[in-house]
Amino acid sequence: MSQAKRLAGEKAIEFVEDGMIVGVGTGSTVAFFIDALAALKHRIAGAVSSSEQSTQRLRSHGIEVIELNNSGPLPLYVDGADECDRQKRLVKGGGAALTREKIIAQASAKFVCIVDPSKQVDVLGRFPLPVEVIPMARSLVAREIVAQTGGQPVWREGVITDNGNWVLDIHGLAITDPVAMETALNQIPGVVSVGLFARRPADVVIVGGESITIF
Ligand code: 5RP
Repeated sequence: MSQAKRLAGEKAIEFVEDGMIVGVGTGSTVAFFIDALAALKHRIAGAVSSSEQSTQRLRSHGIEVIELNNSGPLPLYVDGADECDRQKRLVKGGGAALTREKIIAQASAKFVCIVDPSKQVDVLGRFPLPVEVIPMARSLVAREIVAQTGGQPVWREGVITDNGNWVLDIHGLAITDPVAMETALNQIPGVVSVGLFARRPADVVIVGGESITIF
């Protein structure tokens, strides 16, 4: 599987153009992208990072990390996913970086998603859907999730996001209308963000493997 992740990450380099500030996601697939990006570091203007983990890796390669508030809109965002459907809608947040990932995706003209074949699904929801919550709202949000979705929220105990918040993972979902579910869950007070990327899906998906698929 890590071979497929590496191939997807390296393929995404073809979307990087000279002078760009590149939005960079989080995870093991993105780590391969960052390692490949290092070879181009003198040709890009820098990177906007979605997590402390990716920031460290970018800096270890000598790639300048720029604040999103100073970068303006980004031409390109490259990130992985936990699930991806044919419409390029995603479940993300397995690495608990969903909120910053969502912000950078929204700020970017093109979102290139890099996955291995195991991430492809017909219906999103097999992977428990991450939701970042303000700590004091955890129980309230969990009760609302049960009432609204019928899924089972499980607190990812011990995990604190880069924003100082907690994560609930919703098990047992079959997400037939991802835009509606994303919109509804976003309305619950105490929800910071939902790991559904349906309102702003990927623009391009690269599936690594023996033969690389791009759609
Ligand atoms: C982190 C994410 C990652 O993109 C997702 O978990 C996929 O990770 P990996 O590339 O390690 O399989 O959403 O919050």
